[in-house]
Amino acid sequence: MNDIFLIKSKVYAGKGSLEKLAEIQGTKACVVSDQIMEKLGYLGQTVDLLQSRGISTSVFTDVKPDPDVNIVAEALKVYWESGADVLVALGGGSVIDTAKGVLYFARQYASEKNVPFVKPLFIAIPSTSGTGSEVTDFSVITVDGDKICVVDDFIAPDIAILDSTCTKHVPNKVVVDTGMDVLTHALEAYVSTKATDFTDALAEKSVQLVFAHLEALYHDPADAEARDRVQNASCMAGMAFTNAGLGIIHSLSHALGGTFHIPHGRANSLLLTAVMEYNANLSGKINDRVCERYARLASLLNLPARTAREGTVSLIQAIGKLKKSIGIEDGFGELGIERDAFDEALSRMAQTAMADRCTPTNPRQPTETELEFIYRKSF
Ligand SMILES: NC(=O)c1ccc[n+]([C@@H]2O[C@H](COP(=O)([O-])OP(=O)(O)OC[C@H]3O[C@@H](n4cnc5c(N)ncnc54)[C@H](O)[C@@H]3O)[C@@H](O)[C@H]2O)c1
Ligand SMILES: [Zn+2]
Repeated sequence: MNDIFLIKSKVYAGKGSLEKLAEIQGTKACVVSDQIMEKLGYLGQTVDLLQSRGISTSVFTDVKPDPDVNIVAEALKVYWESGADVLVALGGGSVIDTAKGVLYFARQYASEKNVPFVKPLFIAIPSTSGTGSEVTDFSVITVDGDKICVVDDFIAPDIAILDSTCTKHVPNKVVVDTGMDVLTHALEAYVSTKATDFTDALAEKSVQLVFAHLEALYHDPADAEARDRVQNASCMAGMAFTNAGLGIIHSLSHALGGTFHIPHGRANSLLLTAVMEYNANLSGKINDRVCERYARLASLLNLPARTAREGTVSLIQAIGKLKKSIGIEDGFGELGIERDAFDEALSRMAQTAMADRCTPTNPRQPTETELEFIYRKSF
């Protein structure tokens, strides 16, 4: 099959790019956001910029982390009643995914009611540097305690505004969680079965930026350059994985996050080592393709990589060192999850992870028993 590479979103990046909102064409906007964005004044700024263009606005500010389908339904009601021709998502991945859910279900609702649906201009303004959701065709919505991935080109934002001033007040813990999510996206896209030269270029740059700037941002949240660069890394990793897909770190993390409500990026970072070891098959005959790829990343980071195995080990060790330096625990047990509850949930979580949209593009196809083993190893 031929490679397909698509980045649908126009990206405005850099400090002050929020002002681009004053150039938007439209008559009515619906802004999906959360209470923190309102409290920090970003929502007011967004509404003012739209109004300066004569665009009236309705707002929905009740998004909660890891949004469930009921929140999407509430936001859909506000959007539908507003008759908006511009949909703005202002917030972290949870907010952007909710707005994507609104778009997805609005089209379905219109078709069921047999009324025409004119797609609004969809603008995403991320306030975290993690999911890359501002440029992806993914939305993660919780239904009955399970995180479901909706994947559809239709929900990818038309415009992404990366103004790192919007990420200025992100709590340090969230900086770490979201930054490790970026690294996971890039690593999974890089070894995915659908990786191409195009996605590799974005994933490589993203890994380099995370290694160069995440630790600095953790130690000095006022470091504006580090904040900008980690935000760029987040967007580039999003561009890579929306084309290449992800892998079982995300499958396992979705199933675990739905059950134990651990922040997405934190769950990923605790699964990284065990999944990389599994993908590389370091304990048996190594997986050449995966190890060569991990080793290429290791060389880009100036780590020892004379052989594919050495490069793989160097990369895994460097990730371990990075995790330690930014205060990430060694396993799920340290997050207060009870061992008994974890063991009891294992089989169901492994089953859910197996069926996840991210599993087919993992470089090694796991069995449920292997997924359970990875969970146990990450405890
Ligand atoms: N759509 C995708 O492509 C994709 C990819 C990866 C993950 N996800 C999903 O995205 C969600 C996680 O998103 P996230 O990691 O961005 O976190 P989040 O959106 O859940 O935000 C985490 C917390 O930080 C707060 N916050 C956000 N921005 C802030 C700011 N600037 N200042 C202060 N506080 C701020 C939020 O209010 C929230 O309490 C999960 O549901 C995950 O499964 C989606
Ligand atoms: Zn993720």
